[in-house]
Amino acid sequence: MRIAVLHGPNLRLLGRREPQVYGTDTLGDIDARIGDEAASLEVEVESFQSNHEGDLLDFIDEASARVDGFLVNPGALTHTSVALRDALLGVSLPFVEVHLSNTAAREPFRHRSYLSDAAVGVVFGFGAYSYLLGLRGLVAHLREHPDEP
Ligand code: DQA
Repeated sequence: MRIAVLHGPNLRLLGRREPQVYGTDTLGDIDARIGDEAASLEVEVESFQSNHEGDLLDFIDEASARVDGFLVNPGALTHTSVALRDALLGVSLPFVEVHLSNTAAREPFRHRSYLSDAAVGVVFGFGAYSYLLGLRGLVAHLREHPDEP
């Protein structure tokens, strides 16, 4: 089983970006933790970050040929991007949405997600651990429902 991890805009700044909100782990630290978790679950992962919406859409299209699902932190695109939603629905692969921060406890514009209702599940508020929980949930879903999008 192979999972693609998608990090949206500004997530490459982790470590120095609003550490009171997002913690002090860098994106490299988080990817390393995801890699360890994936190894313990006996799945393969690949990770992609972009600040550019179109690059994320292209990646979803290309990666869909080789992966079984997506673990997605869309960053601010969560709250704005119909195109990202359409890309994920368009490739008919299951995805889990994750956020480092508890978006429900933040500004009202962060309460709406264009992805959540189409996701297998959503994990938010646990810092880097959100990714690990999300990966576990996605892998469990894929193992239990191998034929479902
Ligand atoms: C975020 C939450 C978003 O509202 C924000 O725009 C981000 C990060 C999170 O992981 O908590 O860039 O997705």
